[in-house]
Amino acid sequence: MDVIEAIKTRSSIRGYKPDPVPREVLVEILKVASRAPSSMNTQPWEFTVIAGDVLEKIKQANIAKFNAGERGSLDWENERFKDRCRERQVTLAIQLYQSMGIAREEREKRTDWERRGFGYFDAPAVIVISVDREHLPRTQFDIGAVSQTIALAALEYGLGTCMHDQGISYPDAIREFAGIPESQRMIICLSIGYPDGVFPADKVVSERESTENSTTWYGV
Ligand SMILES: Cc1cc2nc3c(=O)[nH]c(=O)nc-3n(C[C@H](O)[C@H](O)[C@H](O)COP(=O)(O)O)c2cc1C
Repeated sequence: MDVIEAIKTRSSIRGYKPDPVPREVLVEILKVASRAPSSMNTQPWEFTVIAGDVLEKIKQANIAKFNAGERGSLDWENERFKDRCRERQVTLAIQLYQSMGIAREEREKRTDWERRGFGYFDAPAVIVISVDREHLPRTQFDIGAVSQTIALAALEYGLGTCMHDQGISYPDAIREFAGIPESQRMIICLSIGYPDGVFPADKVVSERESTENSTTWYGV
């Protein structure tokens, strides 16, 4: 697949087949994704690949916390989105809910939808990316670069991904079963697996602002 086609093809996948992803494939993806650029070639990322029983235990722990009304909190400081970022966030939510046939007033269905993220959208595997906490916040750029590279490389193997922070919103649940040390901060996770090809939300094409509105030109 050519690079431009891969970039255009990638989209967040939230409906997966249960088929496991072979370890050799995940190894290849992580190997190639490690070619991503990083500040001074520091390669600050640590990958924790979780599947099978361990993933199931983490899912159940996340969902139990969510059901108990425990508010998730990321392992790193973050603010709520405002202004045009908030507007875009709302637009995406409307698109996703519409695709799933969930009306605004259907609270229970909205809660079910939210719960799916804490269950990693039922993907057979998850890659959690963490960094040494002393290297925050400057390493976050590097984590973005490697995350997108994983998502693009995955396409070559017929795999879909969804980067999300819902899956790392209860860091203690992950630490309990996957042993990520306190000295590491989890920055993002990627659900990864074979798209089921029929999940309605996966038909959503998320909008993009025209680059005319986000680019300033000088001398060209
Ligand atoms: C840092 C980051 C956090 C995200 N967190 C979530 C999340 O918690 N839940 C979710 O469903 N999608 C999440 N996403 C996926 C975005 O919603 C998605 O990338 C965006 O809407 C653009 O759509 P596309 O990936 O299909 O192009 C996240 C993406 C990024 C980069």
